[in-house]
Amino acid sequence: MTSILQFSRILSRAAPPLQRSVHSGTRLTSTAASQLKHDRPLTSEAIYAREDKYGAHNYHPLPVALERGEGIHVWDVDGNRYYDFLSAYSAVNQGHCHPKIIAALNAQASKLTLTSRAFYNDVLGIYEEFITKMFGYDKVLPMNTGVEGGETACKLARKWAYNVKGVPSNKAKIIFAEGNFWGRTMAAISSSTDPSSYEGFGPYMPGFELVPFNDIPALEKALQDPNVAAFMVEPIQGEAGVVVPDQGYLTKVRELCTKYNVLWIADEVQTGLARTGRRLAVDHEEVRPDLVILGKALSGGVYPVSAVLCDDEVMLTIKPGEHGSTYGGNPVACRVAIAALQVMEEEKLSENAERMGHLLRTELRKLPKEVVTTVRGKGLLNAVVIKETKDYDAWKVCLRLRDNGLLAKPTHGDIIRLAPPLIINEEELQNCVEIIHRTIMSF
Ligand SMILES: Cc1ncc(COP(=O)(O)O)c(C=O)c1O
Repeated sequence: MTSILQFSRILSRAAPPLQRSVHSGTRLTSTAASQLKHDRPLTSEAIYAREDKYGAHNYHPLPVALERGEGIHVWDVDGNRYYDFLSAYSAVNQGHCHPKIIAALNAQASKLTLTSRAFYNDVLGIYEEFITKMFGYDKVLPMNTGVEGGETACKLARKWAYNVKGVPSNKAKIIFAEGNFWGRTMAAISSSTDPSSYEGFGPYMPGFELVPFNDIPALEKALQDPNVAAFMVEPIQGEAGVVVPDQGYLTKVRELCTKYNVLWIADEVQTGLARTGRRLAVDHEEVRPDLVILGKALSGGVYPVSAVLCDDEVMLTIKPGEHGSTYGGNPVACRVAIAALQVMEEEKLSENAERMGHLLRTELRKLPKEVVTTVRGKGLLNAVVIKETKDYDAWKVCLRLRDNGLLAKPTHGDIIRLAPPLIINEEELQNCVEIIHRTIMSF
């Protein structure tokens, strides 16, 4: 048997060349090495060109190259400051680089980062207790990205359908609303009605069906099928362009799911965590889904953290080995998520989002109808619809907003989402309204 001494000698013989190669970069090709050595600040144009050359072309970013963020602001490589009106698709609700969240990240990152779920760690349980008590569910299943949260909820719903509801094997159905968006995995695109999401990626996941969003009679018809396991829906459809359903829709969804013994899955990845002026968007109607999916702002934009919350009847249908993730529930993610949730509560982000949202929509409604045809939203999840003409469209409006110091992104050609971090105050919001007003009037 190799003794510890022998083992350490083997290591010490092996170590020097390995360390040299890592630290001096001798393993890199000479071109890559010189590239990194001379990796000084690039111009915006050079940044676009490099991403374009070496990265996949699966995004079409607005031309602005950012290098720093703090609170509601981001700065580009030339030092220009912008108001961030996208908040990384509602991940940065707490503001960029929130000091409490960064402190939690740093403290845990230098102590223990990842154990995998092969072992216990001393943080996961603290987080699990914290988040389940905050949202009032028996249990949580931690994952990383929002789409993994959606996948997890669908798997839980199928298991529950077979083990509890008694749906025959492989017959379970999940109903989705048209216009939904929950990511880009094979399952997520299989429920999509957006050709840019699904076209060219078939065959698709079976067992998924669609009903129109905000259509209670259609939902009731679909739920009568005894093989339906769940109805998964966003309380406000974010990527579809901030589509707000009628008041009472969520209450009816709850009633129907209960009536037909179907699980209601609320995808709160974008709407949750104070974005719409409540902790969860479903809180506007004081209804409780069977499963809630959280993501994005669960880490304040610092780390990929997602979660599915539900009660034991559903959660305990999944047994060891049947679902998981190497990084899901790691100590850094847990500490970051606790800090992000604490900031949401301590800084009363829901209340602020509610108040600032009212103010924003009131001001936006004063914009000329010939350019801005619709203003809609809840809390600080808002959108304006831009009337397209040969002179301007939503993309051009966003470019000019950028030139005037505010970053927003068009969706579906004519819609611009306006969703700043939830820490924005009234004076800052008024400044932003002034920028939006000046930009629109310039067309
Ligand atoms: C409602 C909703 N669900 C799920 C997702 C997917 O989240 P992620 O991009 O973190 O996988 C998104 C992303 O925009 C979303 O808006």
